[in-house]
Amino acid sequence: MSLLMEIAWGLIYAFFLLVVFSCLLLLRRRGKKEVHGVLRMPPGSMGWPFIGETFQLFSQDPNIFFASRQKRYGEIFKTHVLGYPCVMLASPEAARFVLVSQAHLFKPTYPQSKERLIGPWALFFHQGAYHARLRKLVNSSLAPRAIRLLLPKIESSAAAVLRSWDGRELGSFQALKRFSFDVGILAIFGGHFVEQRRNAFLENYLVVDKGYNSFPTNFKWTPYGKAMRARSRLGDLLREVVKERREKDDAGTDLLSCLMEWRDEEGGRLSDEQIADNVIGLLFAAQDTTASVLTWLIKYLNDHPKLLKAAKAEQMAIYEMNGCGRRPLEWTQIKSMPLTYKIILESLRMASVISFAFREAVADVEYKGCLIPKGWKVMPLFRNIHHNPDFFSDPQKFDPSRFNTSPMPNTFLPFGNGEHACPGNELAKLQMLVFVHQLVTQYRFEVVGSQTEVEYGPFPVPKHGLPVRLSRSGERP
Ligand code: HEM
Repeated sequence: MSLLMEIAWGLIYAFFLLVVFSCLLLLRRRGKKEVHGVLRMPPGSMGWPFIGETFQLFSQDPNIFFASRQKRYGEIFKTHVLGYPCVMLASPEAARFVLVSQAHLFKPTYPQSKERLIGPWALFFHQGAYHARLRKLVNSSLAPRAIRLLLPKIESSAAAVLRSWDGRELGSFQALKRFSFDVGILAIFGGHFVEQRRNAFLENYLVVDKGYNSFPTNFKWTPYGKAMRARSRLGDLLREVVKERREKDDAGTDLLSCLMEWRDEEGGRLSDEQIADNVIGLLFAAQDTTASVLTWLIKYLNDHPKLLKAAKAEQMAIYEMNGCGRRPLEWTQIKSMPLTYKIILESLRMASVISFAFREAVADVEYKGCLIPKGWKVMPLFRNIHHNPDFFSDPQKFDPSRFNTSPMPNTFLPFGNGEHACPGNELAKLQMLVFVHQLVTQYRFEVVGSQTEVEYGPFPVPKHGLPVRLSRSGERP
């Protein structure tokens, strides 16, 4: 027995020495890598072996993590988070370098669990010819001339959400997720999605959405496992819709029709799986982003009564012109809401719901005498740029008038930049303009409870999704 114990202790001791030795070796190799020819590694700390600075990132507001390191090390710095060595870049010039001028050296990168859930053929996982061809098609189906046709339906959808909120206290984020989902469905399926199918689609989509940010263990009972199964049902549903449209020869101008009609040079078309991955991918890209910016917008309007009053005056003029809402909004009216538009731009800047882009270097890259090693994650930090006083004076102040003049090039990146920049940006802005029009002309709202804390899911929103009590104008909220 004692011999066995001795052997066991010996093994534990040897294992311990092996771990210590590996750590020392790793640290030594990192030290050596500081100089690679004449290139230096960016300044910064790689934190503890294996865990890096992950703990520091998650034990505080992530924006403080990024901002404090930028203050200490400058516009480019290295770190190690979530198991990856990373280089973070906080200047407009660096963001342009990664996303535009040298974009071919940086590929998009996402955790495998997310790629499995959304579907590997979704647009944003790709680079090169497949991405470029799909991108052309998505751009055209989300261009202003296409989305202006959706205006009446977007208006009805905003009205429906507000009606269901009337007289109740609801978390704004949850309520607005329904609105952004409805608009996403409109953009993808046009008006051709029958109610029964829409409900089945929503039911399964909600399960996928719930599992998306959960721990990725694929068992029947885990949220991720349930999400994977719901995702597969969504695939089946989409296959049915595609089959039906093909049988009826029912082509429209919506995104699904564009995906179905797509042909490559040899005349090959997208498989049902590729179509489904892109439909689900687009909904994911559209829903939480738009809902969280709108949630912040409500908070900013609530915090700035004078601005709210001015926005209301701008919108009331249009509302009255339309017979107090009896006639629908027109496209030209959407284009003449200058103050509301600037409030939206300032909300996008202040909230910076997508704080950074995520890429991976496909080769060793030099940036301003620093080495970005192949395989490292590379993150242009949009939020740091949006909150830098060199580009936006008094950056913590909510001031839409700063958009009276255009921001300096590459300093305003709420929708990213380059070949992966958001193709849905016009649709997102249209939704926000329509929503604000309806909200301020017909309703009064009151934010309930804490208004300072922020939660991440993963996009930042005010705590509890900003509970708001809403009622028709003229009635007490
Ligand atoms: C306020 C709302 C939105 C914000 C802030 C936003 C922001 C962004 C950003 C920053 C990117 C670039 C990510 C990167 O470079 O890695 C992006 C990409 C994307 N967005 Fe949006 N987005 C919004 C709404 C939408 C909407 C409404 C749609 C679709 C209807 C959409 C579809 C997409 C797609 C498909 C991509 C990937 C493009 C590609 O990889 O080529 N987004 N979005």
